[in-house]
Amino acid sequence: MPAIVLVGAQWGDEGKGKITDVLAAEADQVVRFQGGNNAGHTIVVNGEQRILHMIPSGILHGNTVCAIASGVVLDPFVLFEEIDALAASGTPVSCERLRISRGATIILPLHREIDRLREEARGDTRLGTTLRGVGPAYEDTHGRVSVTVADLCDRDRLAARLVVVAREKEPLLAALGGEIPDWDALADSLAVLGERIRPYVDQVGARVRQALAAGGRVLFEGAQGTMLDVKHGSYPYVTSSHTTAGAACTGTGIGPTAIDRVVGVAKAYTTRVGGGPMPTELVESTGDHLREVGREYGATTGRPRRCGWLDLPALRYAVAINGIDGIFLTKLDVFSGLDSVRVCTAYRVDGEEVTDFPHLADDLARVEPVWAELPGWHEPLGDERAFHELPARARDYIRYVARALEVAVVGVSVGPAREQILFLEDVWPPSRRPQSGILRPMPRPLHR
Ligand code: GDP
Ligand code: IMO
Ligand code: MG
Repeated sequence: MPAIVLVGAQWGDEGKGKITDVLAAEADQVVRFQGGNNAGHTIVVNGEQRILHMIPSGILHGNTVCAIASGVVLDPFVLFEEIDALAASGTPVSCERLRISRGATIILPLHREIDRLREEARGDTRLGTTLRGVGPAYEDTHGRVSVTVADLCDRDRLAARLVVVAREKEPLLAALGGEIPDWDALADSLAVLGERIRPYVDQVGARVRQALAAGGRVLFEGAQGTMLDVKHGSYPYVTSSHTTAGAACTGTGIGPTAIDRVVGVAKAYTTRVGGGPMPTELVESTGDHLREVGREYGATTGRPRRCGWLDLPALRYAVAINGIDGIFLTKLDVFSGLDSVRVCTAYRVDGEEVTDFPHLADDLARVEPVWAELPGWHEPLGDERAFHELPARARDYIRYVARALEVAVVGVSVGPAREQILFLEDVWPPSRRPQSGILRPMPRPLHR
């Protein structure tokens, strides 16, 4: 121990990459445990921007080991593009720095094809996926027909696995009007990647458990956001994995008691990419202000993000279902220049206040926000490094959010750069190095 799970508290793109990079300075390991290259995590260091899709956002810290756990769906073509791009920009990704689970599911080109064909077939009811094949790859994980990283590293295993995949996917591809892959050519190209991936492959779960047992600091980097969780998000406008804190355990292979704290990352306002309800969405010029000043364009697909005010009922739900005990509030600088800002404090349906968060899309689409208006500020933020340096109204906004959520705001981000952050609390719990030679007394049996 200690272990921190970091999750997005909204609809993704909250600034998880930036906060992970900041916290990773003190971490021994950073672990991605779910999602795939649908994620786009941005880090800005020395004026240089990097967007990571597959590799954990601790990679820029030389002493931090980055791990891709078995809960991730991994596109090996994208992985090596990313490794090559990092190397070209001065960050070589050696196999000491990056460990990849044998059990992670491989995203195949046919998964991307199925994702695209399904979205096309849906027409106006399309989900707005990132078209990275993430949903179809998770279907195969749960359908027990996926190719794993371990299969990629063994030509015979890979061939046997592709026979199973072909049997399952040929009828589906034909029905969707897709192309049937040349299986031999696919096996050849995957085997080449298998050779390249082999040195990185490891028993990631066991390594993380060892690190925790030895008192190491492990940061679990969530992808997407709470409202995109396949079960607890705005279904069916969600991603195909669990994006909530429990997935750090199931996606890595550790027990819930190994987690010391869960931090949520939330923007000072709300954004969403893709389809589905968004109760606080702004369609007038303030939405444009947030989009242009906040540069709200997707890090993976470049799509403009839908923008709206802070949604407290959604955030309270995120706090509850993740067990969040500290919030990083990001992009507060984007509010500078606004006379006032609004916050959704509650939802009403048919004039009645809603008590339980209606997360299913059809239910969420019916809510009407109840608004509070708070004073804005004009001073630009970005150079502040301590709470007391912020304008009084910005401090009031932070206090308001903390009180409304009944959770401490542990840090505030005031710009995209690594150093544009101020801490209100220590985030890493004190190290609990195990004491040797002390055995706990055996608990007395309850029943004889
Ligand atoms: P992630 O998916 O949660 O890692 O977030 P993204 O990287 O997709 O999107 C966040 C965007 O906001 C990126 O362009 C970041 O560089 C940027 N960003 C992060 N924190 C701040 C902040 O406090 N202020 C501003 N202006 N931009 C920020
Ligand atoms: P990060 O980690 C924002 C959204 C897509 C779509 C839905 C399903 O950068 O926060 P998928 O391709 O996963 O099947 O798409 O989920 N989505 C994200 N939105 N940030 C992300 O990741 C996202 N990953 C998926 O836009 O609405
Ligand atoms: Mg993103």
